[in-house]
Amino acid sequence: MTSSFHEMWEELRPLGRDSSSGGYRRFAWTGADTDCRAWFRAQAEARGLAYELDRNGNQWAWLGVTGHQDVAPGEAVVTGSHLDSVPDGGAFDGPLGVVSSFAALDELRGRGAEPTRPLAIVNFGDEEGARFGLACVGSRLSAGALTAEAAHRLRDGDGVTLPQAMERAGHDPEAIGPDPERLATIGAFVELHVEQGRALDLSGDPVGIASAIWPHGRWRFDFRGEANHAGTTRLEDRRDPMLSYAATVLAAREQARLTGALATFGKVSVEPNGVNAIPSLVRGWLDARAAGQDTLDTVITGIERAAAERAARDGVDLDVVRESFTPVVEFQHALRDELGALLGKKSERPVPVLGTGAGHDAGILSAIVPTAMLFVRNPTGVSHSPAEAAAEDDCVAGVTALADVLEGLACR
Ligand code: GLV
Ligand code: MN
Ligand code: MN
Repeated sequence: MTSSFHEMWEELRPLGRDSSSGGYRRFAWTGADTDCRAWFRAQAEARGLAYELDRNGNQWAWLGVTGHQDVAPGEAVVTGSHLDSVPDGGAFDGPLGVVSSFAALDELRGRGAEPTRPLAIVNFGDEEGARFGLACVGSRLSAGALTAEAAHRLRDGDGVTLPQAMERAGHDPEAIGPDPERLATIGAFVELHVEQGRALDLSGDPVGIASAIWPHGRWRFDFRGEANHAGTTRLEDRRDPMLSYAATVLAAREQARLTGALATFGKVSVEPNGVNAIPSLVRGWLDARAAGQDTLDTVITGIERAAAERAARDGVDLDVVRESFTPVVEFQHALRDELGALLGKKSERPVPVLGTGAGHDAGILSAIVPTAMLFVRNPTGVSHSPAEAAAEDDCVAGVTALADVLEGLACR
């Protein structure tokens, strides 16, 4: 690894890591998040970059200007990703992009490349939505895809609201909202990210370029039944929401299998959550994604229908709420082709272009500014788990590719 990458990686590695699982718990506006933010700021300052914290808690490090107010519309080239994690997440999802951005900047300086456009590195806050249930809160707020009012209503599992969490972490929640002037400065945003699948491993390429992000969303299913004694209530007399929930999990899998989509219940809460009590409420969160909108609609309709049918049989009430949704993102072809051409100069064969089912801040920004993504090979293909991986050589290849892209976009 280039030494700057290695040093940064080692500094960041212990922050927010749970020693029992080996995974990361860097949730928005917690102590671990604050530590990661302090790390970002220190990296910016160590390089003499102008540091900014925007109204939505996203961090920026500018080269060549004192802040976004110095930048003309469309002039800046921006790279970066996020530092927060899912529960027991891997080390790479997010941090690889941020660390690679600083390392790429070091490489540009080492090459003696002279940027002719302002360059910035960004750490978007709360990308994973692990704490408040909605992904990409920082970028959505800035892009106007999430209103301040809706953000103020977000709560974590302990009932702490987003404004309360922000305030406790020293950020003014009244400031949050759209940031059009800042985003208007961006002429190109490039996010480097660990691949969350095995396409590059299978094709034998260290680096790829993103084509599109599947439409995806999160739905909350509330199954309300009747709490009762597990040892005395006759089966006929039960209104057991766990049965309806369990049948819905299986229906989701079946719908996904039939349509080639993905549908996952990965989070569930049960009330009263007693081993000897029939539950009164089972609340499950569905994450569903598909290559096309029609397929996703079909899957969701099928799962909702199966849930409603089963709930009726069980004497259970059902409410389904869509908590978030991101439509299909097709990254801008001109920028994508430019990346292909820049990286193709050094490569014997074309750099692969691949789609992904994972959401990213780049997807949110793509509605407003030209946006592209680079993926770095993940030999396990695993993500959102401590088993997520990237080889050192591939991380270096990613840094070099990002430096090539930034040089091509910002130094001509
Ligand atoms: C973010 O990583 C997502 O795709 O959920
Ligand atoms: Mn992720
Ligand atoms: Mn990510």
